[in-house]
Amino acid sequence: MALIAPSILSADFAMLGQEIKRAEQAGADWIHLDVMDGRFVPNITIGQEVLRSIRGVTSLPFDVHLMIVEPERYVKDFAEAGSDYITVHYEASVHLHRTVQFIKESGAKAGVSINPATPVMVLDEILDLVDLVLIMSVNPGFGGQGFIEQSLRKIIRLKEMRDRRGLDFLIEVDGGIKTDNARKVIDAGADVLVMGSGFFNSDDYGEVVRMIKGG
Ligand code: DX5
Ligand code: ZN
Repeated sequence: MALIAPSILSADFAMLGQEIKRAEQAGADWIHLDVMDGRFVPNITIGQEVLRSIRGVTSLPFDVHLMIVEPERYVKDFAEAGSDYITVHYEASVHLHRTVQFIKESGAKAGVSINPATPVMVLDEILDLVDLVLIMSVNPGFGGQGFIEQSLRKIIRLKEMRDRRGLDFLIEVDGGIKTDNARKVIDAGADVLVMGSGFFNSDDYGEVVRMIKGG
């Protein structure tokens, strides 16, 4: 069954702690935290100090998505602040192999993300080292955008690569996922669904979880 990782980007920042608790009580599996630097993407969001201050409100894994240039410079800070998964962008890390090693040495699980225009094939040489691959199904930077349909093809292709090589990294998909399109993302092969507006804009978080997981 696919895991649900609500993205707090769409939560009410004035009540971040409570929102995370509500997500946990509703049955969310992970908490997805979007870190943006105003350079790799146009937007600026949260840093490691915010992460540190909310770490204590939940025991759910923190799934940290770094949309920043030179992510290797901040891996240690985010690991120490309490990240369970740290995901960097293929497009933002010149020495991706070394960055992935840094993440693992820091004690976190390592993820690599690709933008919509980046083919999954570019990850061929790194797949056996990562714990997670994050396929962006919108252009990163903002919540509330529409799902890019071609992403389904990329999920299928990535799953084929994983199966062929007997690997076990998780396939996570991020952007434009709602209760009405989650099924096709899961059927394509997603293990983890990131949901921002599709989760936090709902009046009933528990209902979102039930609609996706069934029951
Ligand atoms: C976008 C972020 C996403 C965002 C998803 O750059 O990486 O995690 O919060 O939001 P929705 O689900 O609204 O597209
Ligand atoms: Zn994200």
